[in-house]
Amino acid sequence: MLTGHPQNPADRRPIILTGDRTTGPLHLGHYVGSLKNRVALQESREQFLLLADAQALTDNAHDPEKVRRNVLEVALDYLAVGIDPQKSAICVQSLLPALSELTLLYLNFVTVARLERNPTVKEEIRLRGFERDIPAGFLCYPVAQAADITAFKATLVPVGEDQAPMIEQSNEIVRRINRQAGHEVLPECRALIPNMGRLPGVDGKAKMSKSQGNAIALSAAPEEISAAVRQMYTDPDHLRASDPGMVEGNVVFAYLDAFDEDRSGLEDLKAHYRRGGLGDMVVKRRLEDILQNLLRPIRERRAQLAKDPGYVLSILKAGTEKARARTETTLAEVRAALGLFQF
Ligand code: TRP
Repeated sequence: MLTGHPQNPADRRPIILTGDRTTGPLHLGHYVGSLKNRVALQESREQFLLLADAQALTDNAHDPEKVRRNVLEVALDYLAVGIDPQKSAICVQSLLPALSELTLLYLNFVTVARLERNPTVKEEIRLRGFERDIPAGFLCYPVAQAADITAFKATLVPVGEDQAPMIEQSNEIVRRINRQAGHEVLPECRALIPNMGRLPGVDGKAKMSKSQGNAIALSAAPEEISAAVRQMYTDPDHLRASDPGMVEGNVVFAYLDAFDEDRSGLEDLKAHYRRGGLGDMVVKRRLEDILQNLLRPIRERRAQLAKDPGYVLSILKAGTEKARARTETTLAEVRAALGLFQF
């Protein structure tokens, strides 16, 4: 007899799973894209956060030390923004062997052509310049991500919009497994994508990304925040304060849209900027104040936690143990559903 994980069907609370590659500290793009949602959701839902070190290796096999080091850095970012380990289990991906086993099984339910068509993977291959030398693990990481999601039976996955193709691919695998099994072994999930879209890089590129060097880290020092705001792109035709300026495509306003809580003050500011008579420096000063106030408590809490790595490790250990039990139950169910040999 297989036992499902202890979830009363009458109490079908959505289970939330999401994760981050451990390649560097998290930045403001992660904050608006997903971290803020996670902090809010942990109040009412069961949530697992995955430190995706195995996925990070798929394009960092040459630098495993970076991947290892950043497990702790990303964990510090989580805790510093308000993830509560009593409410959200933080776990280490590579210490959950059931994820690898599920990946191996799922790989048989996906074609290479389908993997090559995944638009996010395609774009990432282009950005990384892999051309024909694509690590097999990298091409297959959407399948591993399907294993992550389904192993927890997650139904809600808060991610940035670039991850939507992963969710779609995960649900395709789920449908194939369920069809093969003849009953619902795994639930499909839905992505929770913030409606504001993605935060541009400080250089005006479409996406904030550490590898592009256009990000503001959550742990950024006050001087780094000032420098980043100072170098932000505005409207290249707004030469004098008296000129009318463009708000659309102006990075400073994109950030104000994301972070300024005084919405009517912001609308007035935009109108003034469009009319002319408002210098870039004034707008930048407003943004800098907002970002300094947002990041100060995060940075301070992070520095406090970083002094006690033993405490952070104990959180990861407890979260990983909880996740191990959960993921192993699902693996047993999938093995049984596929009719694999069992002693
Ligand atoms: N691919 C995600 C990213 O790069 C990280 C990730 C790994 C993830 N496993 C996941 C996200 C499972 C959601 C669910 O941001």
